[in-house]
Amino acid sequence: MTDESALAALVESEAGALPLTVVTRESLAAKVATLGPAAPRWVEATRFTAEPGTHLLVPDADGKPLRVLVAAGGPDPIWDLAALPEALPEGTYALDAASDGERATRHALGWALGAYAFTRYRARKRPPARLVWPLQADRKLVARLACAQCRARDLINTPAEAMGPAELQQAVEALAAEYGARCTAIVGDDLLAANYPTIHAVGRASTRPPRIVDLTWGDAGAPRLTLVGKGVCFDSGGLDLKTASGMRLMKKDMGGAATLLALGDAIMDAGLGVRLRILVPTVDNAVSGGALRPGDIVRTRQGLTVEIGNTDAEGRLILCDALTEAASERPDLIVDIATLTGAARAALGPDLPVLFARDDGLAAKLLAAGTCASDPLWRLPLWQPYRDMLKSPIADISNVSEGSFAGAVTAALFLADFVAPEIPWMHLDSYAWNAKSRPGRPEGGEALALRALYAFAVERYGAKR
Ligand code: BES
Ligand code: MN
Ligand code: ZN
Repeated sequence: MTDESALAALVESEAGALPLTVVTRESLAAKVATLGPAAPRWVEATRFTAEPGTHLLVPDADGKPLRVLVAAGGPDPIWDLAALPEALPEGTYALDAASDGERATRHALGWALGAYAFTRYRARKRPPARLVWPLQADRKLVARLACAQCRARDLINTPAEAMGPAELQQAVEALAAEYGARCTAIVGDDLLAANYPTIHAVGRASTRPPRIVDLTWGDAGAPRLTLVGKGVCFDSGGLDLKTASGMRLMKKDMGGAATLLALGDAIMDAGLGVRLRILVPTVDNAVSGGALRPGDIVRTRQGLTVEIGNTDAEGRLILCDALTEAASERPDLIVDIATLTGAARAALGPDLPVLFARDDGLAAKLLAAGTCASDPLWRLPLWQPYRDMLKSPIADISNVSEGSFAGAVTAALFLADFVAPEIPWMHLDSYAWNAKSRPGRPEGGEALALRALYAFAVERYGAKR
């Protein structure tokens, strides 16, 4: 753990730490009355009313900082303190009242996530303010989730130039090495011999060869959980080239893979009772003389033929071969995450990943876990009647639908053709990016659904240690 890390903003108790008092609009007056005669006057003079999301430095009679009041009671307690690492002057702060473990853990996690900065290309202007670990906080859990989430943010924020298929493979290998997991990869033209024709077809135009990376960890006898993450390191659209604005953020098109590497990190750190497999098909969707063309037909790993209606619908193409491989072992559960469609963002905006699942019970559990973890998702249907829209006149299926209806649904229906109906499967279409900065959620790469999936996995597979 380096000092740069978000977790470095949580410290052991320290003499001289400035007290931090959590207040609400309702409790403000009574709290302030206990802080000596000057405090109420200062609160009055500054017009501090404990609006959620605000805070106030209270000075002593000499004008030195005495304590900080921070207003809680916003829509989500996890973010109550999350602005403070950046907003408060550098130094160490300590909550002055104990709270239950649940709240203490949330406050600590929000603080760590709020202390994150992407420092690969520019040092941070100042260190984040530090918080003394709240007494009842589950330190291991906070460290696990904060490190995992920041790992994903770093991977997504890294420009495509420095995060190509080879570098993403290295990131999987590094994760495997941390936990003694096995990791293999099939690279470049070997994909053809190994029967991953669709991954090869999408990635072959780039000077950086495509690949599928395969991590396995855990007890061979445990229930098998397989995660499949879209790892498009840059999505230019291919020959169906994107516009400048459409291409601008496409370094984040490996956000599904990054999110699932973070989930794998958390699962392995917790030692959950699963046999974990992470499959990352990773490519550049590039333009060259050898690029996949609109109208080409590819025979997938599963054997279905796909007509390429649009080379920009590449995510479902690389995922279909990976899902076929995932399903071949008949695991207990497959979860895939992909920055798959603009339509998902049009439907639910950037903050709510779209969940697709055949099984209502499974979906309900993940949605509930998301609500508990302040990491919400929303479900859309795998609406079978729309499967018609993916018809091709000369192949088994087209990679795009004709009209512009229900783009996230038809993309999910495409994937569904590669996962046998009896295999439990959830597909998440995520934006993987904070479109604007908010407390704890700086603009940039984000592992949406990470905490939801971790809580879901703990519930389903139990903590082993
Ligand atoms: N990676 C994009 C989807 C995307 C775009 C996610 C913007 C987040 C923000 C994906 O590969 C893509 O280009 N999808 C196309 C599909 C279309 C050609 C059927 C889309 O959504 O426009
Ligand atoms: Mn695309
Ligand atoms: Zn894409």
